[in-house]
Amino acid sequence: MSRSKILYVDDEETNLINFKMAFQDHFEILTALSGPVALELFRENTDIAIIIADQKMTGMTGIRFLTILHHLDPEPIRIILTAYSDTHDIINAINQGRIYEYILKPWKEENLLLTLKKAEELFLLAEANRRLLAELQQKNQELKETNERLLADMKKRIETEKALFAKQVELAHAGRLAALGEMASGMAHEIHQPLTVIQLDAENLQFYFSRRKQKSLEAESVQDILAQVKRAGKIINHVRAFSRSDFGGMQCIDPFVPVDNALSFFRQQFRAKNIALKEEIKNVPKIKTDPQKLEQVVVNFLSNAGYAVMEQAKEESDDYPKLVTVRLFQKPKSGLTNDHQRLIFEVEDNGIGMIKQIRKRCLEPFYTTKEVGEGTGLGLSIAHGIARELRMKLEIESTLGRGSLFRLLIPLNGC
Ligand SMILES: Nc1ncnc2c1ncn2[C@@H]1O[C@H](COP(=O)(O)OP(=O)(O)OP(=O)(O)O)[C@@H](O)[C@H]1O
Ligand SMILES: [Mg+2]
Repeated sequence: MSRSKILYVDDEETNLINFKMAFQDHFEILTALSGPVALELFRENTDIAIIIADQKMTGMTGIRFLTILHHLDPEPIRIILTAYSDTHDIINAINQGRIYEYILKPWKEENLLLTLKKAEELFLLAEANRRLLAELQQKNQELKETNERLLADMKKRIETEKALFAKQVELAHAGRLAALGEMASGMAHEIHQPLTVIQLDAENLQFYFSRRKQKSLEAESVQDILAQVKRAGKIINHVRAFSRSDFGGMQCIDPFVPVDNALSFFRQQFRAKNIALKEEIKNVPKIKTDPQKLEQVVVNFLSNAGYAVMEQAKEESDDYPKLVTVRLFQKPKSGLTNDHQRLIFEVEDNGIGMIKQIRKRCLEPFYTTKEVGEGTGLGLSIAHGIARELRMKLEIESTLGRGSLFRLLIPLNGC
């Protein structure tokens, strides 16, 4: 084992020589004749275990010197050599922890060796302690980092698992929907036939009763049958249209054409119901789209708008102006680089409007707030599906009791 280093400072050279002679077999001894020289040595040797200073040195007392060293590095064991046992300064310095021990002069070799060995032991113990502490801190830090990494990994895993689960649910749902869609379209096809027969028979009966029992219960029942057949037919047509992918096909068309086709259904109907129809239609560039599908979207918007104003009219006074506005125009360029050129198609009404909850659910298939038997709840979900398919964006604005606005953002796709 290497010997511990002792730095001894004393302004009497014979003392230094004697000390070195006495203890050099046990320790590596550095000596200095003054405080400044000792400080220099102290700075050069960072592994000094024990520092001994004579109290009575010219220029600087031993206590002062050891106090300075204590500030520089508190770890080495500091010992003072003095001729007096009870000076106030020494007792104070010991009490404040600046000095470990004082040794009375003249010292006896065996006694001093014992003290030095004890001091060395103390230093080595403290050093081992410091090393252990540093190791412990290092291990703690590593543990903390591992923990944090583990936690982050765990969080990531949980998130991935959650996303995976959501995807699986989505996939299962999509699968179920696809199967359901196929089944529904098959059923719609099959039901169409018997429904036509029922309708024909009911019409025959209607004809029969119109001649004989016009106001009878039977005549009313036939009327009911026909109304329900009409409703069932409407549902079937929705489903068939929804499931048919070969509808009209993509064509380069003036979007005014499908809009005008849809409007032609409603102009007469709205007039009859006293609904003002405002057509704000501008000349717009051609687009590549499926005209039948676009027409279907417009029909659904107009049908809903008509219903919404009629419902609102029930709440209003007679002079309530039922109004549906249809707009088609090219969105002016905003100048922003990512502002793509689009056409805007809007149907706005001043009807019942929607509360947030309805607004949130209105695109769901089969969601309807209409009376039982009145609506299928498929109109908007079909419109939404078509908009997505034709790469159009559907926006809805609505205020309860004020009205709604359904907007299609149609990309200009270089036709
Ligand atoms: N213009 C509108 N104003 C107020 N509410 C609307 C409007 N359009 C749709 N809604 C609400 O959204 C619901 C769903 O509309 P959707 O067109 O999908 O089905 P529906 O109109 O109820 O049935 P169908 O289209 O078969 O007649 C409606 O029942 C209604 O509550
Ligand atoms: Mg509808």
